[in-house]
Amino acid sequence: MKRIPIIAGNWKMYKNRDEALEFIYQVNDKLPESSNVETVICASAVYLRDLVKRQGDNLRIGAQNMHYLDEGAYTGEVSAEMLKNIGVSYVVLGHSERRAYYNETDETVNLKTKKAIAEGLVPIVCVGEELEVREKGTTNKVVGKQVELAYKDINKEEALNTVVAYEPVWAIGTGKTATKEQANETIIAVRKVLEKLYDLETADKIRILYGGSVKPDNIKDLLSMSDIDGALVGGASLVADSFLKLAEAADK
Ligand code: PGA
Repeated sequence: MKRIPIIAGNWKMYKNRDEALEFIYQVNDKLPESSNVETVICASAVYLRDLVKRQGDNLRIGAQNMHYLDEGAYTGEVSAEMLKNIGVSYVVLGHSERRAYYNETDETVNLKTKKAIAEGLVPIVCVGEELEVREKGTTNKVVGKQVELAYKDINKEEALNTVVAYEPVWAIGTGKTATKEQANETIIAVRKVLEKLYDLETADKIRILYGGSVKPDNIKDLLSMSDIDGALVGGASLVADSFLKLAEAADK
């Protein structure tokens, strides 16, 4: 079963508007065909609209978070409808930094995932274990549970419009990448959970990305594995040239 890989950049709280626009003009015409690889930039909400207006044929724009309610008195929050309304296509949900610093829980990730799907946004649902979990040998169990809770009450058709990102917390921004075997093994475990929740065919279609210190020099190895369908990339997505290299590596 061929799954089109995704290279998604997560810019976190980096780049001002000028820098963001400069990047987009640098990469727009050089990205591979979307039939071979889908590329996404998840940027600060402040200039998402500016990026959407300038996105090239094979670049889509994503947000890094959203609220799970339609609207209301929630100062500082952004709704799924607001994102959709300005042409955003993807939204990163449950990133470990949000789980660690902003009280994101499996429950809010589930609510947000449902809302994103209902609004026609593609959620990139992030899961991943802490170092202690990896050392204890319970990674697949812990990550599997996160997936199960994130997909609670989401049906098969809806699940097909989602992407999972497996990001071991100890590998994010640390320069320590999981080995390709470790990443693939946990991603296979995630796919097994999706199979249990849905069925084999559905699980086979859902893209599961790896994230955590992905760089142009390790992307090929990661993508050579059976179940790794692309990457969610922080640091290496900030430089146009390295983002292009990641996209080229995924272009088969
Ligand atoms: P990193 O971040 O590539 O800088 O490790 C990955 C992420 O947080 O998604």
